[in-house]
Amino acid sequence: MIISQYKAFVIREEKDGSFSRGIENKSIGLLPEGDVLIKVKYAALNYKDALSSSGHKGITRNYPHTPGVDACGIVEMSESSDFNVGDAVIVTSYDFGMNTSGGFQEYIRVPATWPVILPNNMTLEESMVLGTAGFTAALSLYKMEQNGQEPSMGPVLVTGSTGGVGSMAVAILAQNGYEVVAASGKKEAHEYLKNLGATSIISREAVDDKSGRPLLKNQWAGAIDTVGDNTLATCIKACGRNGSIAVCGLVQSHKLETTVYPFILNGVNVLGIETAETPRKIRLKIWELLANEWKPKHLDAIKKIIRLNDLEEYIQLMLNGQSKGRVLVKF
Ligand SMILES: NC(=O)c1ccc[n+]([C@@H]2O[C@H](COP(=O)([O-])OP(=O)(O)OC[C@H]3O[C@@H](n4cnc5c(N)ncnc54)[C@H](OP(=O)(O)O)[C@@H]3O)[C@@H](O)[C@H]2O)c1
Repeated sequence: MIISQYKAFVIREEKDGSFSRGIENKSIGLLPEGDVLIKVKYAALNYKDALSSSGHKGITRNYPHTPGVDACGIVEMSESSDFNVGDAVIVTSYDFGMNTSGGFQEYIRVPATWPVILPNNMTLEESMVLGTAGFTAALSLYKMEQNGQEPSMGPVLVTGSTGGVGSMAVAILAQNGYEVVAASGKKEAHEYLKNLGATSIISREAVDDKSGRPLLKNQWAGAIDTVGDNTLATCIKACGRNGSIAVCGLVQSHKLETTVYPFILNGVNVLGIETAETPRKIRLKIWELLANEWKPKHLDAIKKIIRLNDLEEYIQLMLNGQSKGRVLVKF
């Protein structure tokens, strides 16, 4: 039964320019237009949501807004022949949670081009432990392998390795037979990273070269970088011949200063990772991989399940760079 009022996490812009956030009652009629109405079962917290929740206009232009770029649930109404009432679906990417009302609420309504039917061999909960983070990590490895990356070339570095994308990258690489070097700022998380499959763990500083040299000794055969700035520059300078660097994120900053030497002398490939508009054919392929051969063994170790009331605390941890693994909101 569809209820008219439901709970939503709402960010408001105040008259003085500050932002407030909290749980409010919303009515279904206020949801955006769309073909598919979904009762949300789980949503997951991503870095973009933490930014949107703090009023970052690069992510969300207009408030009030309900963030949440990842959600899954059960179709309650459908005006599309692609979806039937009762279908279990995953909604990520496109404009979901950015300038379109997102997953931190009991109901969502989206265009029929956005949801993906939950693959066989994947539960709704697993789909959100994976979510955009797992999708990003998997798309990174997919593109790296398309460019020739293989385990025999040597270890692959993951930066921001205890974060959502980082944790997934460590686990998926290990699952695929890669030796994984995990760079992390959290000394206490070494056990966690080893359990996910990291072969060795290095500090954040070890991937923040200040020598000014254009090339460094070969230290890894490729990298999945979630950090950007000098960390990404260091990934590129110390990458071995013909290795690939998947550029996913910018938690350090959006800047990148490099020379052309790693590209013209070592053949390093820099691969842009953009999940929001990934073509549907590749999107379905990546979800299939995540449900089967690439499903990490340790999804339980990566997840933390909270309620909508707890979201504020976890947004703060994420903004302070202290989040670990994947935080799921269960409805
Ligand atoms: N390209 C795409 O389509 C796409 C999709 C999803 C996410 N992203 C981007 O990927 C990045 C990571 O997202 P996420 O959801 O995984 O975030 P997250 O869970 O907050 O993880 C980020 C991790 O980066 C490390 N870190 C934090 N601040 C840092 C700093 N100042 N310098 C170096 N390392 C720092 C921390 O790990 P350690 O403590 O272990 O170092 C932290 O856990 C974000 O920039 C996000 O926007 C991009």
